[in-house]
Amino acid sequence: MIFESHAHYDDEAFDPDRDELLNSLQDYGIEAVVNVCASIESLDNTVQLMEQYPFIYGAIGVHPDEVGGMNEQVMEKIRRLCRHPKAVAIGEIGLDYHWDKENHDTQKKWFCAQMEIARQEKMPFIIHSRDAAEDTLSVMKELRAGDMYGGIVHCFSYSVEIAREYLNMGLYLGIGGVLTFSNGKKLKEVAAYAPLEQLVLETDSPYLSPVPNRGKRNSSLNLPYIAKELANLKGVPYDQVVDVTNANARKLFGLLHNG
Ligand code: NI
Repeated sequence: MIFESHAHYDDEAFDPDRDELLNSLQDYGIEAVVNVCASIESLDNTVQLMEQYPFIYGAIGVHPDEVGGMNEQVMEKIRRLCRHPKAVAIGEIGLDYHWDKENHDTQKKWFCAQMEIARQEKMPFIIHSRDAAEDTLSVMKELRAGDMYGGIVHCFSYSVEIAREYLNMGLYLGIGGVLTFSNGKKLKEVAAYAPLEQLVLETDSPYLSPVPNRGKRNSSLNLPYIAKELANLKGVPYDQVVDVTNANARKLFGLLHNG
C-alpha cells in the first residue's frame, strides 16, 4: 500500500467532505498519511487529525510564508506538540522566495530555529524550499543537516546538481504531481537520477494535483498516478515503487510496518 508523506487535510478545501474522504483512503490503497502543518493554526488542527484517525501522523512546524506570526510561545508549542506519540517530523519548514511573503532574514531565522528543535528532539525534518536553492543549501550545510536525524526535501523543484547535494546528505526527495506535468522535465530528470531508496511519494494536497486531474483539488487518491509515472521513468514495476517508497517513509519516520 502507498505511504502519503505530505498532505494538508486541515485545509479548508476539505471542509465539505473531509471525514468521508479520509475514511475512504485505505479502501483505495493509501495506507498512511503524514498531515503536514503549514500555518500556526494548523498545529492544533493537525493534532486533532492525528487523534481522530489511526492512519494519520503529523509533522509539526510553521511554513516560511507564515513565520511572520512566530514568537517564543509558538516555538514552545512546537516543542510540546512534536512530543505527541503520533508526531513524526518537524515541518514544513524552510525558505520560500517565490511568494516572498516574509523577508529573507526572518525566514532564515525561523527555519534555523525549527531545525534546532528537530536536532534537540532527534526528529526528521520536512523542508519546503522554493526559488531559494542556494540559501537553503547553505543553511543546511551550516547546520550540518546531514548529521541530524534525516529528512525530506519536499516537492523537490531544483536541478540534478542540487539533488545530488541532498542525496549525499542522506536525505529523501519528495516526489509529487509535478512529475506528471508536461512541463515537469526537470523533476523527471531528478527522479530518474535519484535512487528509488531515497524517494518518497507525496501529493501536497489540496495543491498540485497530477495529470489527469491537474487543476482540480488534490487528494491522496491521486498518488497512483505519481507512482505509475515514477515506475515508467525508472523502468521498474509499479508495485516496487509503492513498496520501496513506503519502506523509505516508514524508516525515516520510525514507523514499523503493521501489516
Ligand atoms: Ni506542503
